[in-house]
Amino acid sequence: MTQAATPSSCADGRWLDLHLAPELFIADIPVADGQPACVVVQQGRIVWVGPQDQVPAAYAGLPAHDGGARLATPGLVDCHTHLVYGGERANEFAMRLAGATYEEVASAGGGIVSSVRATRAASEEELIAQALPRLDQLLAEGVTAIEIKSGYGLSLEHERKQLRVARRLGKLRGVTVRTTFLGAHALPPEYAGRSQDYIDLVCRDIMPALAAEGLIDAVDVFCERIAFSLAETEQVFQAARALGLPVKLHAEQLSNMEGAALAARHGALSCDHIEHLSENGIAAMRDAGTVAVLLPGAFYTLRDTKLPPIDGLRAAQVPMAVSTDHNPGTSPALSLLLMANMACTLFRLTVPEALAGITRHAARALGLQDEQGLIAAGRPANFVLWPARHAAELAYWFGHKPECTVVRQGVIAKA
Ligand code: NIG
Ligand code: FE
Repeated sequence: MTQAATPSSCADGRWLDLHLAPELFIADIPVADGQPACVVVQQGRIVWVGPQDQVPAAYAGLPAHDGGARLATPGLVDCHTHLVYGGERANEFAMRLAGATYEEVASAGGGIVSSVRATRAASEEELIAQALPRLDQLLAEGVTAIEIKSGYGLSLEHERKQLRVARRLGKLRGVTVRTTFLGAHALPPEYAGRSQDYIDLVCRDIMPALAAEGLIDAVDVFCERIAFSLAETEQVFQAARALGLPVKLHAEQLSNMEGAALAARHGALSCDHIEHLSENGIAAMRDAGTVAVLLPGAFYTLRDTKLPPIDGLRAAQVPMAVSTDHNPGTSPALSLLLMANMACTLFRLTVPEALAGITRHAARALGLQDEQGLIAAGRPANFVLWPARHAAELAYWFGHKPECTVVRQGVIAKA
């Protein structure tokens, strides 16, 4: 991709003539709406934010970057992806168009298990080569932190390979990658009819080994009638917590399993999908401070009609994040801005909610709330300058590729 060849340079200095997206920054001196603002960066960190005519004298000697009256937002955070896998599943798209349901595709040997076959067959280098162009598409649109799940390996060797690839992708592109172990994504074919044995293997062998290798930042489970039960989910969560790992859950996507309430009891960082989330689940998430991750790409691809309970989440003040859920089956999405648009159009989020959903709340869903998702002094310099006057434009346009400047970890990664 072109990005690899783009020279990157240090972002230190005064970023002048910016407009700041409301609610996504904290200023040292208040900035009025529409007033030109300045962000000062030193040694890769934001050290001051405020009106550009009030930059402290101490920073006056730093080099100036012309913001060109562009809109500045925090770097985007894609908090739920399955970015690393072998092959693709365009054939299933065709099957579903011919009338098959997600469950029928899975029962016919397609679905997650077909990606497991392709992922197991691929080398680390091949997985890197396949995932990198996908990652670059997301990064080109302003992503500065991304979660990548395992779950297409389903054995120690192949889960390790996926997680190692995820870590290597982060290093290759200088982007924050959080790895989530999703060993309990589907039953591997060699364990057909022996779900409990596989969950025992995940808890006793695979997860502890990969945690000891430092490959796991969080643990996820696909809790669903076509995947793992509530009791199996609980077992995985207990094992995760015994290892000191935070949990999250693919919860209530196709039915209400009361998985969200279970996850919240384990202090989950997030519950994701949640179209069938109950009142009880909302209350449990509220009490635990668990983030609701909305995945409009999967909702759209599956032509779902059951909307997540946005009004209930809003009333309970559960933070709502929005993510691509990039995966080869149900959400081959490579634009987080499109997901923001779809969260507004399909789920009726407001623009400020959608923007917080791809920044602040997404950061929190990964436990990165102190590093990502907000423009403020003391934070690593992760921000994006957009050719837009109003923040609403970020959720309004779709299918376009805005020419943005991306500052990632204090480096101008894309100008
Ligand atoms: O988040 N729901 C389970 N996992 C993925 C789908 C993965 C696949 O179909 O390969 C999801 O939608
Ligand atoms: Fe997912």
